[in-house]
Amino acid sequence: MNKNIESLLSEKRVFKPAKDFVKKARIKSKAQYDEMYRESIAKPDKFWAREASELLWNKKWTKVLDWSKAPVAKWFVGGQLNVSENCIDRHLDGPRRNKAAIIWEGEPGEKRTITYAQLHDQVCRFANVLKRNKIKKGDRVLIYMPMIPEAAVAMLACARIGAVHSVVFGGFSSESIKDRLHDSKAVAIITADGGYRRGSIVPLKKNVDDALKLSAAEVKRVIVFRRAGNDIHIEEGRDVWWHRELEYVDANCPPVPLDSEHPLFILYTSGSTGKPKGVLHTTGGYLLGAYCTVKYVFDVRDEDVYWCTADIGWVTGHSYVVYGPLANGVTSFMYEGAPNWPDWGRFWQIIEQERVNILYTAPTAIRAFIRAGDQWPLKHDLSSLRLLGSVGEPINPEAWMWYHNIIGGGRCPIVDTWWQTETGAIMITPLPGAIPTIPSSATLPFFGVDAAIVDDSGKEVPPNVGGKLVIRKPWPSMLRTIYGDHARYKQAYWSEIKGVYFAGDGARRDKDGYFWIVGRIDDVLNVAGHRLGTSEVESALVSHPAVAEAAVVGRPDEIKGQGVVAFVTLKTGTKVTPGLREEIRAHVGNVIGPIAKPDDVRFADALPKTRSGKIMRRLLKQIASGEVVTGDTTTLEDLSVIAKLSAPEE
Ligand code: WT7
Repeated sequence: MNKNIESLLSEKRVFKPAKDFVKKARIKSKAQYDEMYRESIAKPDKFWAREASELLWNKKWTKVLDWSKAPVAKWFVGGQLNVSENCIDRHLDGPRRNKAAIIWEGEPGEKRTITYAQLHDQVCRFANVLKRNKIKKGDRVLIYMPMIPEAAVAMLACARIGAVHSVVFGGFSSESIKDRLHDSKAVAIITADGGYRRGSIVPLKKNVDDALKLSAAEVKRVIVFRRAGNDIHIEEGRDVWWHRELEYVDANCPPVPLDSEHPLFILYTSGSTGKPKGVLHTTGGYLLGAYCTVKYVFDVRDEDVYWCTADIGWVTGHSYVVYGPLANGVTSFMYEGAPNWPDWGRFWQIIEQERVNILYTAPTAIRAFIRAGDQWPLKHDLSSLRLLGSVGEPINPEAWMWYHNIIGGGRCPIVDTWWQTETGAIMITPLPGAIPTIPSSATLPFFGVDAAIVDDSGKEVPPNVGGKLVIRKPWPSMLRTIYGDHARYKQAYWSEIKGVYFAGDGARRDKDGYFWIVGRIDDVLNVAGHRLGTSEVESALVSHPAVAEAAVVGRPDEIKGQGVVAFVTLKTGTKVTPGLREEIRAHVGNVIGPIAKPDDVRFADALPKTRSGKIMRRLLKQIASGEVVTGDTTTLEDLSVIAKLSAPEE
């Protein structure tokens, strides 16, 4: 058993929701949760129809769920609505009209507050800019922006006219942009000249130019927001400035009623092949998932300042910076830059200054804060916080306790939320006023989520036995397909165990029904909360002229959860020069993005393979973690390879 699981099994501290939190909470007891959960599973149509009636529909649905063509779900069949109308217009004829929708802070320190009325004006105008540039309903639009309010404006403007956005994380390279342009067949790109990160300017527009040089695909228009003021190239006939375009449009842009199953966005994520998957989410079900989880899991109130620290390039940024909070009429705080800029006090200074009430962040950030030292948070008044959230990877008990004590002052519930790009919204989580928490357990399934732990044959395992985490019933915010590759959708999620959705994670469930997520059991790594396919990194490695063959594995990392180790054989005649290792790391950074750079590149004469030529990753994992190679090696073709790989280099 690995150490991690051992410490989880011995974890006994239980934290009950505090009385004054419970008093104001929507769901106030385990019994109330149980009752609602039971209904959501027994009568999903009734449950979801009631929740959906809190959204604004232009046309009511005729059927809540059509699962007759499983695994393709249709939710709210026949219904029509618009996501931007639900996130903005709906709040305009009441007290939220002049309430802050977005409060933003740039890395250099500027601040902006945008009310719902102002957001409406900006989204309408920008939607008209899209139309003026011939972007139509159903067209794909790639968004490559820094964390500025205009990123949300661009997403909402697409949603307003029924264009399908695909946000690409600003840390990804031009090569990654190009791949996504191709796969999505995007007709336009919305970007900025640059964005700030740790005091320097990320050349976003230049990366877009480079991607288009590699291949213009079907891109006809690039709309550029001026953020950083850095010099950029404007390609006549293709590129236009955001602010100039605004001069030609007015603020009149009624939202287009869209079918509940109209695509809202495509978001690329890593899988177990070299090619990222374009996860497709649609309108009604997705919005309902984002809306409903913000309501119950973050238990938001009108007076809250809510801060989710994720970048809009990830699904967390979609559901919990933009769509979920705005659909609830909440004030969503957005920060452009790095947590350690200019120093490790930045987050805590923001919380003190903005009186942030809810903080949703990642374990990797928490561990980095722990390492930086308690003096940073202790310098600030964090008493405004009332609820903390964690997402992206398992949170170890030590990090959980630190978050609880040092950030939450011992008084804030922590919601450890398990979900995925594919699930669209939170799936397993405590409800803060109802569910006692135990450090490191994501606790219980959210309403309508039929989660279970099964063995390879699909049979549910007894309590505390590890197995595969599956979801047995469709849920509103589930992905509908992999864009352009429906076969892969079926294969990747619905074929491992017949008839159920397999998430790729291993987990166990204790006798109280609490879920304990162990992590990915497929060829996917989770590095600092970011998903990375091992084969994606391997293809990047072998595209370097010196590399013949590469195998990538994860190894435990104190801060990032997992680190990337690459085993590389070089082409015959290539000499290992002092700079080669760094050159190969940089190459991977250029091909995918800095987050994919291997922490360690190890040169080898050969990789451990079975007689049939399959790389034995289990052995490489052990070597990468500094363990002694154990287990069956009888299928290994050449045993001496192991000895060589295990020997310290240089
Ligand atoms: C993978 C999904 C969900 C948005 C951010 C990541 C891991 C996520 C938890 C958690 C343990 C977690 C899983 C999952 N994961 N949340 N609370 N506890 N593991 O989205 O990039 O699609 O990654 O992140 O392994 O499969 P993603």
